[in-house]
Amino acid sequence: MKILAINGPNLNMLGRRESRHYGSDTLKSIERALTEKGKALGCKLTFFQSNHEGGIIDFIQGKASGADGILINPGALTHYGYSLHDALVDSGLPVVEVHLSDIHAREGWRKISVISDVAIKQVSGLKTQSYLLGLEALVKHIGSRKKK
Ligand code: DQA
Repeated sequence: MKILAINGPNLNMLGRRESRHYGSDTLKSIERALTEKGKALGCKLTFFQSNHEGGIIDFIQGKASGADGILINPGALTHYGYSLHDALVDSGLPVVEVHLSDIHAREGWRKISVISDVAIKQVSGLKTQSYLLGLEALVKHIGSRKKK
């Protein structure tokens, strides 16, 4: 099983940005934890981070045909990234949306996700654990579809 694990704008700064919201783990350490979890779940992850919506869309378009699912923290694109939304729809892949902070308990504009209607699940507010639980849910979903 192959999973694309995508991070949007500013998530390369994890470890150095607003730890009260995002925790102190770096993106590298989150990716390491995901790799470990992936091994346990029998899947291989391909990681990608970009500060540019177009870069993320190019990555999705280039890699979707060889993948089984997408785990994504879209960063602030969550709240206004309509082209990213459309690229996720076009990928035809199951998507799980994750957030380190609880987007529903912050500023009003963060409560809105334009990505959530594409996602089979949103996991928010559990810091690094959001990614690990998100991956678990995605793998479970793909596994149950493959059996059919
Ligand atoms: C975030 C929440 C977004 O509102 C914010 O812009 C981010 C990170 C999170 O993981 O909590 O960059 O997606």
